[in-house]
Amino acid sequence: MFLKMIILLILKLVFIVNADIINLDSKNSSDLNLINTIFDIFGANEECPGSTKEAFISNNTLKHLRIFVQNTSSSGLRKYNYFQTNELANDPDIDFKKNTMLYVGGFLDSPIFPFASIMGAAYENSGYNVLLLDTNTFTTVEYPRAARFMRPVGMHTAKMLVDLTAQGLDPKKLEIVGLSLGGQTASFIAKNYRLLTGMSVSRITALDPAGPCFRNLGPEDRLDKTDADFVETINTNIDEFGMAAPVGHVNFYVNGGENQPGELFWMLCTSFCSHIRAYTIWTLALRYRDAFVAIQCDSVQQARNKNCFDRRPVVTNVLGLNINKTNEGIFYLATTNTPPYFLGKKGMRKQHDFYLSLTNSLNEKDVIKM
Ligand SMILES: *[C@@H]1O[C@H](CO)[C@@H](O)[C@H](O)[C@H]1NC(C)=O
Ligand SMILES: *[C@@H]1O[C@H](CO)[C@@H](O)[C@H](O)[C@H]1NC(C)=O
Ligand SMILES: *[C@@H]1O[C@H](CO)[C@@H](O)[C@H](O)[C@H]1NC(C)=O
Ligand SMILES: *[C@@H]1O[C@H](CO)[C@@H](O)[C@H](O)[C@H]1NC(C)=O
Repeated sequence: MFLKMIILLILKLVFIVNADIINLDSKNSSDLNLINTIFDIFGANEECPGSTKEAFISNNTLKHLRIFVQNTSSSGLRKYNYFQTNELANDPDIDFKKNTMLYVGGFLDSPIFPFASIMGAAYENSGYNVLLLDTNTFTTVEYPRAARFMRPVGMHTAKMLVDLTAQGLDPKKLEIVGLSLGGQTASFIAKNYRLLTGMSVSRITALDPAGPCFRNLGPEDRLDKTDADFVETINTNIDEFGMAAPVGHVNFYVNGGENQPGELFWMLCTSFCSHIRAYTIWTLALRYRDAFVAIQCDSVQQARNKNCFDRRPVVTNVLGLNINKTNEGIFYLATTNTPPYFLGKKGMRKQHDFYLSLTNSLNEKDVIKM
């Protein structure tokens, strides 16, 4: 098991390093083929046959499904497994009168990696109880199997939340934040929670929810707006690690949703870098509450084409906790290429779009020669 994890991690590193040399014409580059080859070793092809077949977690393995309670200001990070929900509810850093955020990581992720703790800290600052779901045992397998295991993981996590509900957790004060594969896991948690209690979780925030093994499935088998009272998606790599369909109530397509601007000159960042940009932007949006102003589009294609600027009337929404939930739909979010990424209201106008304005300025002269 451990050896397998190491091999997967090494593969992932190789994959990231090679992805670093991807160029603008990514669709045709040989680098992309290399990425796809490595991705296929993970088995994460789009067809993903069999991924909805039954998956089962034995009682003995359930002890590896854990929730960590994080409170940095009291230096708390206590771990509770599937069978310890009573102890969890009585943790000194849990107060169910407050809002609660449950963070669900992606493929190979773990609450001991920084993704979870940084997100947790951002929510702590907003006064939330912070719960970090540990799915590592179930995601540290070949990707298509991990995708398949997220269904029973979601079901069992829902059972934990049902136990916590009996101890005072209010689903209307519960937000589930899922990164990548975790965005799909969040869906299975919420679906099962509703099945068991008849109540919906108040909010799911899906950060570039995983596309491979999910993008061709129906609403019962992937994230959907019917999963919670409010579902939002932040889409940053829709054709590769993420999914293109606008499955939430509000769906942000950051810089068109597929390629994010990189820090180096005019180069786009790699697929993986684009994928996790959703995470980075969300954590920043928790701090800069009204800074990520997005404009509405008529379709995903329009967002992809960066073609929503001339749409009338101009309808905006803000990415983050101050989102206007009644303004549903597809939104284009323009950002810069460096943290903290936001453009504020300037993001509503074409001349401030990072990539469009950069390529415009590079090609300002009528004639270039070399
Ligand atoms: C990419 O490759 C496809 C098929 O090989 C071709 O039809 C298309 O024109 C190419 N695109 C670019 C931008 O070169
Ligand atoms: C697993 O545990 C539950 C109770 O926690 C019990 O109802 C069930 O029968 C157990 N299943 C097996 C296969 O032991
Ligand atoms: C986290 O710890 C701080 C300091 O002890 C405390 O004030 C705060 O209420 C705790 N947070 C929660 C959610 O219990
Ligand atoms: C949210 O959007 C709706 C529809 O555009 C608008 O009527 C409403 O005033 C907005 N709410 C806030 C708080 O801005």
